[in-house]
Amino acid sequence: MCGLIGYSGPRDVSGVLLESLRKLEYRGYDSAGVAVVNGALEVHKEKGEISVMESSMPPMQGHTGIGHTRWATCGAPSWKNAHPFLSQDRKIALVHNGIIENHNQIRKGLLENGTVFSSDTDTEVLVHLISHYHKGDLHAAVRRALDDVRGTYSIAVVEEYSDEVVVAKKENPLVLGLGLNENFVASDVTALLEYTSDVVYMEDGESAVISPRGISLYGADGSAADRPPSKVQWSMEEARKGGFEHYMLKEIFEQPRSISETIISYIDELEMLEILPTRKKVDMVKILACGTSYNAGMVGKYVIEELSGIPVQVEIASEYRYTTKTNRCPLVVLITQSGETADTLAACREAKDRGSFTLAITNVVGSSITREADAVLFTKAGPEISVAATKTYTAQLIAVYLLAARLGYMNRSMGDEEMRIFKASLRALPNKVSEILDRAQGLQAAAAMFRDATSAFFIGRNRNFPSMMEGALKLKEISYVHAEGYAAGELKHGPLALLDERTPLVAACLGDHTYDKMVSNVSEVAARGSPILLIANDDNEDCETLADQIVRIPPIEPLFSPVTLAVALQLLSYYVAKERGMPIDKPRNLAKSVTVE
Ligand code: AGP
Repeated sequence: MCGLIGYSGPRDVSGVLLESLRKLEYRGYDSAGVAVVNGALEVHKEKGEISVMESSMPPMQGHTGIGHTRWATCGAPSWKNAHPFLSQDRKIALVHNGIIENHNQIRKGLLENGTVFSSDTDTEVLVHLISHYHKGDLHAAVRRALDDVRGTYSIAVVEEYSDEVVVAKKENPLVLGLGLNENFVASDVTALLEYTSDVVYMEDGESAVISPRGISLYGADGSAADRPPSKVQWSMEEARKGGFEHYMLKEIFEQPRSISETIISYIDELEMLEILPTRKKVDMVKILACGTSYNAGMVGKYVIEELSGIPVQVEIASEYRYTTKTNRCPLVVLITQSGETADTLAACREAKDRGSFTLAITNVVGSSITREADAVLFTKAGPEISVAATKTYTAQLIAVYLLAARLGYMNRSMGDEEMRIFKASLRALPNKVSEILDRAQGLQAAAAMFRDATSAFFIGRNRNFPSMMEGALKLKEISYVHAEGYAAGELKHGPLALLDERTPLVAACLGDHTYDKMVSNVSEVAARGSPILLIANDDNEDCETLADQIVRIPPIEPLFSPVTLAVALQLLSYYVAKERGMPIDKPRNLAKSVTVE
C-alpha cells in the first residue's frame, strides 16, 4: 500500500505535493518522491520518511506535478525503488499504487527492445511501456499500456512541457479533487481536504486527465464519462491531530462522537433497515475480516447469536478461499475499516461466486468494498490516521450490534419492547465511553507494569474474549511486546506454562455471568507469580486481592461491555507504547490499509 498525489494549477506545486504527502504518510513511509514539470521534468526522491525527502529537496519550481509515499511490496525500500519513475528519455514520470502481476513478462519484452531498467520494482515497467506507446497523446498511451497490464493500480503520470496529469484506476483507491482553476488527484481524500471538499471517486477501469482547465473523465471503454462531484463531510480539523500528541490518542478520545454518529445514522430506521437479502432466508451468517476487523467479527458472533439466535461463523478473510466451495451461507458480512483490504475484497468476490448475499461494514465511502458488496453498512468514525485501528474498531462493534438487532427483529427473536430497551442502552453507550476516557490516568499508571515485559497475556470469557484478543493485538502492534488474547478457560490447556513473574496477565473480570469463573482463572495465574492487571467494574470488590493493579470501568449492560473494555485496552496499549518510546502512529512493518494478498 502506498499514497499518491497529483496537482495542476496556479500554486507552487512542490508545496502542495509535500503537504498532501504528509497526510498520506500513514499509507506507507519507507520512501517518498516527487516529480515536477518545470519545462523538463525534475525528480527528487529519498529512502525513508517524507521528512527525509523534504530535508534534501532542492528548490523545485512548477505548477504541475505528482508525488508518492511508498510501502514496499515489490523491491526493497531504497532510493532506486522509490517513486516517481522516469522513462528512459526522462520525458514521462509515473507514480503507482498496487501490483503489476505480469511485470516479468512485460520487462522481458521491453529488454528485448533495448530498455534499461533502474529499479527492482514492478512499477517501472509501466512507465517504459507508456513511453513505448506514446505517439503524441499521453492519455492514449497510458490507456494502451494498461491494456497490457494484469494486476491492480492507481497511477498518476506527467510529461515534460505539459500541465496535464493523467490518472487511471483499477482495484486501488483514487479520488479526484475539484478546485477553481486547479485540480487534484489523491489516493485518499484526507490529502485533499486542505484544498477542496468537492470530489469524484474514480471507478475501476476509469481514467482521467487533470489540468487547470478542468477534469476529463473517461469510462472503462474509453468514452467520456460524467459524474457530479460529491461533498466530503470530513473537516480539516477532523483530519488533524487536534492538539493530541499522537493521532492514536486523538482517535481514542474521539470515540464518544464516532460511536454516537454511527448509532444516530441507523437507529431510527433500524427495524426496517435495507441491508439484508430480500429473497433469501437468513438462517446462518458468516463474517469474514482481517486483524482488528476480525476481532470485531468475533464480537459480532456473540451478539448476533444472542440477539437473533442465528448461528454465526467467523473466518479469517485470507483463509476463506481455501474452504470447500460447499461452505456457503445466505449472508456473508465483510468487515473492513479501509474498504481496501485485498484479502477481504477477494473473500467478498469468493462469497458472491458461492451465491451469498454480501454485506460490507466499512468506514470509507467510495472504497472498493462498497462497489463489490451487495449492501453496505457505513461506520461513521471519520478519518483514522494512526495505523492502529481504535475508533474504527468500536464503530465496527456498533455496526455489528445494529446488524444483530436488525436480524433479531427480522426473525422475531426481538419484539418491539426488546428493541426499545436495546436502543436505549445503545444510546447510553457514548457517555459510558466518556467516563472511561476521564479515567485515562489510571491506565497510564497501569502501563508501568509492561515497561520491561517481553510477553503478556490477555484473558476474557464470552463476548469479552474477542475484545481481549483486540487488546493483545493493539499491544503487540504499537509497543512490540509479544501478546496473546486467550479465552480464559483455555489458559490451563497450554499457555499457563509460559506464565511467570515476568509475564503480565490482563484479565477482564466484569460483572456478568462469567465473573466467578474469571476470578478462578485469575487465581490460577496469581499462584504462578505473574503480575496481574484486572479490568473490573466499579462494584466488583472481591477480585481486588488477586490484582497487582486494578483499573475500574463503569458498569454497563453486559451486552455492550466489549466496547468499554476495548477503549480501556486501547488506552493501556497507547501508554505502554509511549512508556517504551515507540513510534506509535507508524509502527514498523505495518500500514493502514493492506492492498496486497
Ligand atoms: C489494526 O490495528 C491493524 N492495523 C490491522 O489488523 C487491520 O485491522 C487489518 O489490516 C484489517 O484492516 P481493514 O479493517 O482496513 O480491512
